[in-house]
This record gives sequence, C-alpha cells and structure tokens, in this order.
Amino acid sequence: MIVITGATGQLGSRIIDQLLTRVPANELGVSVRDPASASSLADRGVRVRAGDFTAPAGLADAFAGAERVLIISAAIRGDGAVRANIAAIDAAREAGARHIIYTSHQAASPTSLFAPQLTHAATEDYLASTGVPFTALRNGFYASTMGHHIGSALQTGRLMVPQDGPVSWTAHDDLAEAAAVALAEEGLLDGVTAPLTAPEMLTFDGVAGILGEITGRVITRVPLSDDEWKVSAIDSGMPSAAADFTLGMFRAARHGEFAVTDPLLQAVIGRRPRSARSVLAQIVGRG
Ligand SMILES: NC(=O)c1ccc[n+]([C@@H]2O[C@H](COP(=O)([O-])OP(=O)(O)OC[C@H]3O[C@@H](n4cnc5c(N)ncnc54)[C@H](OP(=O)(O)O)[C@@H]3O)[C@@H](O)[C@H]2O)c1
Repeated sequence: MIVITGATGQLGSRIIDQLLTRVPANELGVSVRDPASASSLADRGVRVRAGDFTAPAGLADAFAGAERVLIISAAIRGDGAVRANIAAIDAAREAGARHIIYTSHQAASPTSLFAPQLTHAATEDYLASTGVPFTALRNGFYASTMGHHIGSALQTGRLMVPQDGPVSWTAHDDLAEAAAVALAEEGLLDGVTAPLTAPEMLTFDGVAGILGEITGRVITRVPLSDDEWKVSAIDSGMPSAAADFTLGMFRAARHGEFAVTDPLLQAVIGRRPRSARSVLAQIVGRG
C-alpha cells in the first residue's frame, strides 16, 4: 500500500487524483488530520485514516501496512516544523515502509535566507540518516505564490513588492504529477532530486509585464525597501511575524536562491511544465 499525508491540501489532493489514474484505489491510503474532509476519497475506495504529525502516537494506525509513504511537508512554521516532519518519518519507518518520499523544495539549504528551506534541509538530512531508501522531491517554488502579491496591483496598476530576484515559478499540477510518477514508478527518482522546476524564471518586473499583457492595463512594478513593504503589509492587516516570513522569500530571491531551472520535471512528466504566464492568467481569471 502507498500512504500519502496531507491529502486534503492543494498538492496532496492533486497527487491523489493523479495516482488514482495509475494505481488501484484499494492500494492507496491517506493520512489526514480530519478524515471527514477526505470522505470523497473514501467514496472512491481510498483508505482514509486520521494522522497528525504533532500527535505522533496516532501515526502508527495511519501508516499501518504502508510499503511506501509520501510525506507532504506539513504547513507548520517555526521550530515545530522539523519536529513534525521527523515524527512522520519515524512513523513511516516504524510502519515498515521500504521507501519514504518527502516533498522538499528546490532551494532547501541550511544557509537559506528563507526559513522553510532550513526546515527542508534538516528534514532531508534526517531522512538520509534513517537508512531507509528515500526520495526528497525538490519541488519548484509554487507559481500560485505570485497570487499573494498581485491582488492590489490589479486595482491600483502598481505592483508594490520588495526588491526580488528571478524565480522558476512552478505549477502545483506539474509537481503533483511528478510526485505521482515517483510513487507509482519505483526507482525512477531516488535520493535528493534535482530541482523540479518549470523551464523559465521570472522576476516581479516580468510578472508586472505579463499582468499588463493579460489584463490590457498598464501595471507598473514599484520596488519598495523591505521596511516600506513591511509597514504597508502590517497596515493591511498582516501580522508582523508573517511579514518577516515573507520578506525572507524576497531576500532569498535577491540572493539568487530560486534562480535555477532544471529539465528533470519535464522529463518526469513527459511534457513541458506549465508556464508562469499560464498560471498568472488563471489567477486573474483570464486562463
Ligand atoms: N514548493 C513551494 O513553493 C511551497 C510553498 C508553500 C508551501 N510548501 C510546502 O508544501 C506543502 C504542501 O503544499 P500545499 O500547497 O498542498 O499546501 P496546503 O494546501 O496549505 O496544505 C497544507 C498541508 O499541510 C498539512 N499539514 C498541516 N499541518 C499538519 C500536521 N500537523 N500534520 C500533518 N499534516 C499537516 C495539511 O494536511 P491535511 O490534509 O491533513 O490537512 C495539508 O495537506 C506545504 O504544507 C508546505 O510545507 C511548498
């Protein structure tokens, strides 16, 4: 059996949809925090069990019988994130999994300027230390993230974000398909993968240009200092800690941490990954 965590999330739900085209439903199980939210999967014949990385005792039941476990990095910020991911890895190993797959990030590094990358690097290190065969899928930066930064630009014509750097924005759908392939086709992706990215990189200058083309409006990119952006973000209701978290992404981008592309994703899914332009068009309702 293949057990997948985080199956009600944006990535996990797409992975399940992809897997159901490759693997019989009765060979799939999901570990979710709220089984009621996965009732549609139960209806499709998938085993649904409760599992929360912050309550590790329950993971033994959620992972029981799993030969392969896909651990989707939990959406947890701060120190608890590594602890949670490690609890899931330990539970997968104790359940007898002979292959553990983890959704890491293209820029996982212990020296990153963006906090989640430290979590991914520490989780990858722990996974490698277990001795269980593993895959760390170094997922590209979600293209949907652009949507968090363009909202007011569509109203004001001014895209006001901090200085940034190129990012190889990558679509959830493509990353989900790659994960499904990795789960269904054993041996295809082993160890820490190359970055799983779309083939192009884009700065927010480029985002503004594409938004202008898509909407037919003039969208001007207005660079802000980190302090100016933080003040405006807090004024708009963002908690200070969340603003600092987001600034980490811009600092890392300026440092070139996301300025990498690799052909692996295209090779795994067998087609050109979706462009950032296409995702942007969908975000603004023109896709
Ligand atoms: N590559 C990138 O650019 C990027 C960007 C942002 C985030 N991420 C990472 O990718 C992950 C999946 O992305 P997404 O778009 O699917 O995010 P999402 O829709 O917000 O889903 C978050 C997932 O985290 C799981 N989760 C949260 N707390 C948990 C806990 N205590 N125990 C077990 N699972 C827990 C949820 O599981 P349930 O289904 O059980 O609720 C859910 O599937 C995120 O959680 C984050 O670690 C990557």
